[in-house]
Amino acid sequence: MREEHPVNYNEEEKLWVVFRYDDVLRIVNDYNTFSSERVFARRRQDEQLTEEEREAARSLLSTDPPRHKQLRNLISQAFTPRSIAQLTPRITEIVNERLDLVIDQGRMDVVSDLSYPLPVIVISEMLGIPTSDRDQFKRWSDAIVSPHEEEAIQASREMRSYFKGIIDQRRKQPKNDLISDLIASQIDGQHLTEPELLSFCILLLVAGNETTTNLIGNAFLCFDEQPEVMDQMRADQSLIPLAIEEVLRYRSPVQLLVRAVAKDTQIGDQAIQAGEVVVPCLGSANRDEAQFPHSDVFDISRTPNRHVAFGHGIHFCIGAPLARIETKIALTIMLERLTNIRRVREIELEPIKSTFVYGVKHLPV
Ligand code: HEM
Repeated sequence: MREEHPVNYNEEEKLWVVFRYDDVLRIVNDYNTFSSERVFARRRQDEQLTEEEREAARSLLSTDPPRHKQLRNLISQAFTPRSIAQLTPRITEIVNERLDLVIDQGRMDVVSDLSYPLPVIVISEMLGIPTSDRDQFKRWSDAIVSPHEEEAIQASREMRSYFKGIIDQRRKQPKNDLISDLIASQIDGQHLTEPELLSFCILLLVAGNETTTNLIGNAFLCFDEQPEVMDQMRADQSLIPLAIEEVLRYRSPVQLLVRAVAKDTQIGDQAIQAGEVVVPCLGSANRDEAQFPHSDVFDISRTPNRHVAFGHGIHFCIGAPLARIETKIALTIMLERLTNIRRVREIELEPIKSTFVYGVKHLPV
């Protein structure tokens, strides 16, 4: 597609799919032409949603400037590399606890034993919600990224009612957590509305869940193709962050984004009109030969590695430092404690059911 149809109209879905790195980068950087807000404005017209749900659809991810910057400022402090580095001891403890549970069995499922619980426990603790509800969070998050619209709407209704209860408790009794901080925060002297608070909580829970889980799982899929990389990382731990960046490029956990065209424009040789929808494919951009020579080779020594797996520009993933540190600690400890990690090949891998999230449901090793 990058060669022959780099900007392709999908008749069935009625949207433009964009495959080349340069075009993808331009779309995510030019928020005046390619709006995040208007995508959701279309969904707000969806008759299945109640008025409150339409309001709640306006999250950080789905706003344009100037509102976007105001919302992002409210949480940026909690996600700086410096703040996130303080979580290192706790993340280390969680990874070790998870491995303690399985280490004697000689076998584990990377997803259910480690890569799912780790990010969900960390973000739950940051938000201040009970980690014991995490099986429920998993069901909701899976439904939200699934291609079934009705399941997604139902899950977000249940999540909203769950978070309403927590927000009510925190209003009465604030704690030292992100939800209490968000309740107390103000923009131009105004507190966030309840729908805004709810969409923040849901975004943080889901965004941090599905993605980091898949990054850790996808790392082991890459290592399965090149087991010698694990020995190289054991011998030299400074290779681990490079390997993580290459996994992000080579098996991008988020494959697609969506933008609505705010004014008539052109991408490549295609004229695109205001009101149309474009889908920049991060996964394809990250395999573009023009940017990454030998793009279909997993190469941890690749420099530079300017992948767009976390997006780019104003919506660049705010959780990137957290995802990177969780994955680094998980890989470091696994490589230290497990001396011979091999995928159980008799069990077939099952991809996650989603059009935009890429990973496998289980990964027995
Ligand atoms: C935004 C990917 C982990 C929270 C994004 C975007 C991408 C992305 C591609 C840009 C969306 C856009 O431009 O429309 C990933 C990947 C992750 C990851 C690949 C893990 C490997 C996390 C984590 C959190 C998080 C751990 C938080 C707990 C967010 C939020 C945004 C975002 C809040 C919206 C930022 C904004 O609109 O300004 N992420 N993410 N992500 N991510 Fe992540």
